[in-house]
Amino acid sequence: MSQDNIQFPEPLLQEVARQIAKFPEGKQKSALLSVLHLAQAHFGYLSEPVMDYVARLLHILPIEVYEVATFYSMYDTQPVGKVKLEVCRTGPCMIEGAEKIVSYIENKLGIKDGETTADGIFTLKTVECLGACGYAPMLQAGEKFHEHLTEAKVDELIEQYRKNPVANYLGLENHGA
Ligand code: FES
Repeated sequence: MSQDNIQFPEPLLQEVARQIAKFPEGKQKSALLSVLHLAQAHFGYLSEPVMDYVARLLHILPIEVYEVATFYSMYDTQPVGKVKLEVCRTGPCMIEGAEKIVSYIENKLGIKDGETTADGIFTLKTVECLGACGYAPMLQAGEKFHEHLTEAKVDELIEQYRKNPVANYLGLENHGA
């Protein structure tokens, strides 16, 4: 997805209006998290021009968007791969072997935490608790949670995403790097 032409298509503009309408008049800023998700899924990542566009849509200051987009790990302000493997690194997942899983992925893909493979398919990112502690260790890829991870399961899911590098979010394809 090109970052040059920053404009949502009509269906996404309608979705933005729907998100804004969930909040009282004048509180359109409350739709920011949802609109950032839409923008990230549509444009691939939240570049400065994309964040400025979101600010214009919500009639807020660009800095208000930057603050939120850089605070939460689910938002990417740099290009990422088509499939973002977000491995939980919080306590319960750590106890169940998250560190080993991260090392295994790093070695298998030849990238470090925060990096993207040369073919632009995978980005590895370690994140805080994703709310699936009972299924540790786990990772999120788009809308999917992959739980009770083992090296064999990681092999399988990497193989699967390599063949079909699509990890949708909100029903939108992540266009990636
Ligand atoms: S600690 Fe990993 S999902 Fe909660």
